[in-house]
Amino acid sequence: MNTQKVDFIKSAANKKAFLRDGRHAVAFAGRSNVGKSSVINSLLNRKNYARVGATPGKTVQVNYFLVDGAYFIDLPGYGYAKVSKAEQESWGKLMESYLSSGSVSHIFMLIDIRHEPTAADKQMLEWIIYYGIPYTLIATKADKLSRSKRQQAANANAKLLGALPWALCYSAETGDGREELVARIGAIVNDSLSNAK
Ligand code: GTP
Ligand code: MG
Repeated sequence: MNTQKVDFIKSAANKKAFLRDGRHAVAFAGRSNVGKSSVINSLLNRKNYARVGATPGKTVQVNYFLVDGAYFIDLPGYGYAKVSKAEQESWGKLMESYLSSGSVSHIFMLIDIRHEPTAADKQMLEWIIYYGIPYTLIATKADKLSRSKRQQAANANAKLLGALPWALCYSAETGDGREELVARIGAIVNDSLSNAK
């Protein structure tokens, strides 16, 4: 996969705006501030292509990037304490309609390597499983832990989330995990990952 071939396509705020053109789509989900936009920027070798927020809750729509013929989707984050009830409800509606749209090939669910998953993370994983979407857990901000502690911490958090005890350690700061993730996305897009749609 050529991660230099990138176009920003659109931001979708409702079901009607989702793209269903048969291309593969890999989506990045997770708590606000967990590092979704940063992982996408790091995959694309760009500084601030997917917008990285100093303010959590910055990504509020479903953002489509076309990367060498497949969509990378930056999903809005959840769990930010300062959003209103109405905003939370509209996030939930948008997310459920996105997950049920049948247009997503694979979800990368991001969890912070340093923190135990929250109830909202568990809810997110339940939705992914309910809608039958293949997924991979990514433990973000791996640079915050020493190399010797990373994999164990990532796996422990995956287990606490209720998933199989493994997550791919990733650092958008150092690029650790990038090659592995690019290879995995390549396999999904080429239909050669065994559990990809
Ligand atoms: P929302 O759009 O609000 O849902 O957040 P997001 O998940 O897109 O997070 P974002 O990429 O904006 O990153 C949040 C903060 O974490 C920013 O200050 C980033 O610089 C920081 N961050 C992201 N990834 C890493 C990483 O790998 N290492 C370190 N040290 N910091 C990171
Ligand atoms: Mg973001």
